Formats: sequence, structure tokens, C-alpha cells
Amino acid sequence: MATMDPKNFSREIKCCSGPRRQAGRSELRVIICRDYEELSRRSASIIASMIRRKPNCVLGLATGSTPIGTYKELIRMHKEEGLDFSKVTTFNLDEYLGLPPDHPQSYHYFMWRNLFDHVNVDPSRVHIPNGLAKNLEKEGQAYEKTIKDAGGIDLQLLGLGRDGHIGFNEPSSSLGSRTRVKTLARETIRDNARFFGREEDVPRFALTMGVGTIMDARFILLLASGASKSQPLRATIEGPISAECTASVLQLHPRVTIIADEEAASRLKRREYYKYVEQKAQELGQDMFWFHM
Ligand code: GLP
Repeated sequence: MATMDPKNFSREIKCCSGPRRQAGRSELRVIICRDYEELSRRSASIIASMIRRKPNCVLGLATGSTPIGTYKELIRMHKEEGLDFSKVTTFNLDEYLGLPPDHPQSYHYFMWRNLFDHVNVDPSRVHIPNGLAKNLEKEGQAYEKTIKDAGGIDLQLLGLGRDGHIGFNEPSSSLGSRTRVKTLARETIRDNARFFGREEDVPRFALTMGVGTIMDARFILLLASGASKSQPLRATIEGPISAECTASVLQLHPRVTIIADEEAASRLKRREYYKYVEQKAQELGQDMFWFHM
């Protein structure tokens, strides 16, 4: 029986890969970290690695509490290691309807306060959906066109809603959807009330990239931290692909890395296997990331 040198695994997989557009290694990688700090360092190092390999890359960015540690680490890398954002283009996933950019709970405000104000990003290359647009349908279509004109998203960063949403693609969203208005689920309104103080103040609608928009990104990095994400994370990775958990469609994407801390990973049936695979990948000296540009 023919045996294969484990060092040749990735070469073998490359040979077997499908369409030209997808050439290269395909995998859904699950990295389980000790805690939130390690998760943030690992995710920032993936993003930094993309920026160093492709200084004019297009990043899809996310809001919520999960990526804050990643942004802090990117800011540190900019200040201490000269990580250069000057040619990077960014597209945010979503924005609430009706909040002006200077509203402290708007995602515009969030992004400037938590990242853009502290790095040398060119403001003309920053894109966030305009939740105040008069014609929201046109705004969604224009956002899609701007992403396309920029060459598409190289790396899309995602958090995970407690109901399994990505962006604001709530359960039952079309898995082929593009940027459009979504009505927020009650659970999401309740979750996000912690930022607004009162549930009544949370906007009921958002303009969000669609599931299809997200799936077009060349590389996807999803972060999940804390016990409240253990159930949606399990549904994302090990559940059926279903609009009930829009993140589960990532199982169909050829290049996804999911970084979870121990708490978020606590309900994964194959947790030990994912750790074992990571350990083997390290032993084989496999490149952590495989950006194709
Ligand atoms: C919001 C955002 C999502 C984010 C989610 C989880 O609904 N639209 O992009 O992933 O919150 O937020 P957190 O990271 O605070 O749990």
C-alpha cells in the first residue's frame, strides 16, 4: 500500500483542489485559545500578516465587543512595529439605521474610537454602510458595487451573534443575500441593549452586508469568545447548514479560520480533535495562513 509522507499533505491537497479560483488549500480551521487575550493576539496576527503580504489589501471589519482586543493589538502593532494601514481599504459589515455617525452607539463611532483614530488608515479608504441614506436599497447596491470596484474583500473579520448571526443576518436570512436592510431579532435587541442602556433605545433595523456578500470574501476569520457563544459556535461548526444559524453557511466557504476561547469552544463535540489537528499542523510546520491574492 502506498504511504504518504505527512510533510506532503498540503501539496497533495493543493493537487486535488477544485476550480482555479479556489486553487490552494481548502479548510475550515478551528483554533482554540486559552482565553480572550490569546484569541485577540492570534486574530490580530492573522490580519497583520495579511497587511504585510498585501499592503493594499481590502479588509472586511466587524463591530461588537469580541473584536475590540484584536483592534487593540493591531493598534499596538502599528505603534510599536510600524504596521502600515496607509494603503489598506476597509468595509464594515453593518450599521444601525437612524444613528448619525457621531452617535456613541453607531458603528461609525465605534470603528473610529476603537481602531481608525489610532492607526494611519486613509479616511477615503474607509467604508461603513450609511444608515441615514434616504434610499436604503440604492445605498445597499452602491455598497456592493464599491466592494466589487475595490477588487473584493481579501479578509473578512466576523463576530458571532448569540442567535448565530453574522453581520446582522438574523436567523431566516437568505443565504444568498446582499447588502440590505434587516429587521433585528428580539434576542439581538436585548443583547445590544447593554451598550445603549435601555432596550427601547436600540434601533430596530440595520443595513448589513448579506450572507452572500460575506461568502464572497477570499478568507474569513470568525471570532467567538465566552460561554454565551458556545451554543451558536457549535451550530456554526457542527450543526446542519441552515438559515436558522446564518454562520453555519461558512462550512461551505473554502478558507475559514475560526478562533474561539475555551469557554466558547466548551460545547464543541470534536473539541479535542480540533486541538489535535492544530498540534499536528504545528508539527508539520504548515503555514498558518494561506492567503491567495
Ligand atoms: C452585533 C454585530 C455583529 C456582532 C454581534 C456580536 O449584532 N452586528 O457583527 O458579531 O453583535 O457581538 P459581541 O461581539 O458583542 O458579542
